[in-house]
Amino acid sequence: MLLDGKTIVVTGGNSGIGEQICLEAAAEGANIVIDYVAHPEATDALIAKIEQAGGKAVGVDADITRADDLRKMIQTAVDTYGRLDALVNNAGMEDRKSLLEETEEGYDRVMAVNMKSAFFATQFAAKQFIAQGDGGIVLNISSVHEDWPMPGNLAYCVSKGGMRMLARSGGVELGPHGIRIVNIAPGAVDTPINTATTSDPEKLQELDRAIPLGRLAEPKEIAEVVVFLASGRAAYMTSTTVTIDGGISQGSVGL
Ligand code: BGC
Repeated sequence: MLLDGKTIVVTGGNSGIGEQICLEAAAEGANIVIDYVAHPEATDALIAKIEQAGGKAVGVDADITRADDLRKMIQTAVDTYGRLDALVNNAGMEDRKSLLEETEEGYDRVMAVNMKSAFFATQFAAKQFIAQGDGGIVLNISSVHEDWPMPGNLAYCVSKGGMRMLARSGGVELGPHGIRIVNIAPGAVDTPINTATTSDPEKLQELDRAIPLGRLAEPKEIAEVVVFLASGRAAYMTSTTVTIDGGISQGSVGL
């Protein structure tokens, strides 16, 4: 199995892409630490599903916008399974407001959930990796919008742009410790973050038309890449991004 005995922490692990990462990683033999802040029942159900399939998982109620909670999250992994092998900064949110519309509260919330959380979780994970002495990997679920404009979703784009630079600069700083940072940039994925679009047939058709592969991604199609990278294969990759977007960010009207 790809992740036999490896311990992997997934923020926002009880829904959407995060949930699928937990399931796929557990199926490949990993010990899973599922961070969540809402819906403990969803976490319990996910743990039960993983355990029924013969896997191992533990939940940690940690508010990723608070550094102390992130420290607790990493510590839970170490206390439960003895070490940490991979951190997946997956938790994210959107505010769908333009530059002119955004409020201070909305901006702060998006930046805290998407960016501050990844920054400090990476810091604590890196300290643990350094203490263990044999490297480690941080995988950030960013977005095509780490580098591709999305008008009407400005704070989100800014936060994902920050995540891009977290991988670039952070990977350079941590490289000498054998610690790698790789971003996974999904396009449109069929998860709760996109419900406003997927529940509206006209908007969904418009989105599908903009995607060369003609459909949204299934969360599994993102999770499979995360599992592969968490396994330690592709070991020369760091400070970079893997895009999984059905071609949407390369779309062109051809005129
Ligand atoms: C956003 C979606 C958007 C997709 C493609 C994702 O990062 O969360 O709302 O549909 O990018 O533009």
